[in-house]
Amino acid sequence: MDDATAKLWATQDRHVGDRERLFRAVADALDVDTVLYPGSYVDIAPSMIFDHVTYVDNDKRFPKFFSDQAGVREIISAQRDDDNFDVNPIHADYTTDLPIKDEAVDLLISLYAGFVSEHCTRYLKVGGTLLVNDSHGDASMASIDERYEFTGVITSRDSHYRFGAATLGGYFIPKRDEPITVERVRDLGRTIGYTKSAFAYLFTRTS
Ligand SMILES: C[S@@+](CC[C@H](N)C(=O)[O-])C[C@H]1O[C@@H](n2cnc3c(N)ncnc32)[C@H](O)[C@@H]1O
Repeated sequence: MDDATAKLWATQDRHVGDRERLFRAVADALDVDTVLYPGSYVDIAPSMIFDHVTYVDNDKRFPKFFSDQAGVREIISAQRDDDNFDVNPIHADYTTDLPIKDEAVDLLISLYAGFVSEHCTRYLKVGGTLLVNDSHGDASMASIDERYEFTGVITSRDSHYRFGAATLGGYFIPKRDEPITVERVRDLGRTIGYTKSAFAYLFTRTS
């Protein structure tokens, strides 16, 4: 493995195994084969769990990291029992047309990378799932997107993640009495601030 690969992964994985635990909690709750992760940077933890993952990022360090294919596979394989997985990096701006078929993936991941749901929902199967946090407001955006139904949360406690689908009615109630609109969410670029929040949210694509 290249030194640069090891260093970038060590920085990404500084809370060792944290993302792997997150994606494990998602995998335990859903049936997922294909994954798209726009704005992934070098977070390759999904491949430790899922078999077919496409990573998209426009950072200049991204192509160099993924060009060390043996190193990337070594990191992933250390956490898997098998070698039956593929890693597909695309160095691109996710707001542009990506070389991916529409409605091709089971899971779309949006973590700390802007409004992924706005630009990349087209690649998610109807019936597939968006995993999204609200750091940049993308969960808020999904909550008012008619293509989605809010179907679960991932809560975090003591570095462990848990899926939940009960009492979802308490989420996405703004602390301030204000209408949530696409323009407001886009302008804010971060969470609106809700009376109850979770680490991340799951939305099922319904149309
Ligand atoms: C804060 S990092 C988060 C990385 C990863 N999702 C995580 O949670 O560890 C945000 C990443 O999103 C990428 N990004 C933001 N906007 C993007 C866009 N329009 N197209 C591709 N990548 C983008 C950045 O290059 C950066 O690597």
